[in-house]
Amino acid sequence: MPVRFNPFEEGFRRDPYPVYRALQADDPVHRSFLDAWVVTRYADVKLVLKDRRFGVDPIPERIAERHRFVKGRGGDLAALLTASERFFFFLDPPTHTRLRGLVRTVFSASAVSRMLPILASYTDRLLDDLTGRDDFDLIEDYAGPLPVFIIASMLGVQDFDLRTLKSWSFELSRILDPLVSLEEYQAMDDIVQGFEGCFREVFAARRKQPADDIISVLLSGARGHDDLQERDLAAICTLLFITGEETTVNLIGNGMLSLQRNPDAWARLREDPGLIGPAVEELLRYESPVQLTTRVAREDVELGGKQVRAGDKIVVGIGAANRDPEVFDQADALRLDRQPNPHLAFGDGIHFCLGAGLARAQGCAAIPRLLARFPRLQIDSDALQWRRNIVVRGLQHLRARP
Ligand code: HEM
Repeated sequence: MPVRFNPFEEGFRRDPYPVYRALQADDPVHRSFLDAWVVTRYADVKLVLKDRRFGVDPIPERIAERHRFVKGRGGDLAALLTASERFFFFLDPPTHTRLRGLVRTVFSASAVSRMLPILASYTDRLLDDLTGRDDFDLIEDYAGPLPVFIIASMLGVQDFDLRTLKSWSFELSRILDPLVSLEEYQAMDDIVQGFEGCFREVFAARRKQPADDIISVLLSGARGHDDLQERDLAAICTLLFITGEETTVNLIGNGMLSLQRNPDAWARLREDPGLIGPAVEELLRYESPVQLTTRVAREDVELGGKQVRAGDKIVVGIGAANRDPEVFDQADALRLDRQPNPHLAFGDGIHFCLGAGLARAQGCAAIPRLLARFPRLQIDSDALQWRRNIVVRGLQHLRARP
């Protein structure tokens, strides 16, 4: 029976790897019912991410088309469309290069290392809050609050309600998914306006008094570009929440689940916290927080023996590539000291994750500190519920006892 790629199926959400493996073996460039090609082999995934014959998937254009199609039913998506058309994630060069350039340096190695003491102290604060409790939710109570606090602090918006910023980021991360309802887009439109309101307040304050934060860097960088408006800068700030929040929650959440399912690896890491650098790389490979991304062919291309036509959409299987046995020995085994580990969890090419260093630093702070504080931590992996998101894969809850 031909293999089907259906990311909406409950079983796929729980364990997509058998489907990926079957596609890699029998149909590596698969024509899906989603009106897209699905590529799952490492070599093809890397090629599509790097080769300029493939461009971004213009998601905002598709939202606009759908909205026009049902015009008269539902409200106005102007804020969502205006902002998302400026998310450089959805843009090709030269605009991509220009907008990404405005924030290129804010996640440099030295900027990340300046965050390390803040990361350590905030993780400890979260762990203090968990100490003494009979049980807790590793997602809600630990993995969840960390990235939103870090991004908010780096941007300089930490005085806003972090729970609200977090839930907004989560809801907006669904913009990457296929088959989102118009009602959800309408909710996203309100959220984009909420984000813009926060950022504009901070823009006004930083214009008077710059501080050591990303918004001040953006405002000063924008001075050389007369055509850049506040809404462009607000879109960049919003994009950082969308891309940096839920992904990092899932690095920690999926990572802890992988360790629980591999008790030898867990014990080894607890005994040797120095292993955390390669361990985080392996956790990113093994249960990749970003499972998929999408591209569109700009010209006709032959891919894995199939003829992809200009304009065709391609689902790029990052999570699949990271389990490709052609590249990773014992691909389905978690080997914390795997070397080399050329995983694609942060993508590749010009859209390579801007926050990779920051994400790695958060994983390296959060996981060993949790293991050290609760050496007998027990994770309940019965009845796991995966979130409905397709692109960013993670758990709804992960209950644990100290
Ligand atoms: C474990 C956590 C993370 C993972 C797995 C991850 C993964 C990715 C991937 C796969 C892409 C490329 C998508 C594509 O090519 O279509 C990407 C892009 C991006 N990421 Fe991350 N990310 C993480 C954390 C972060 C953080 C913490 C930030 C910043 C706060 C961030 C900011 C970005 C941005 C701005 C882009 C778009 C880059 C561009 O289009 O040029 N990410 N990320």
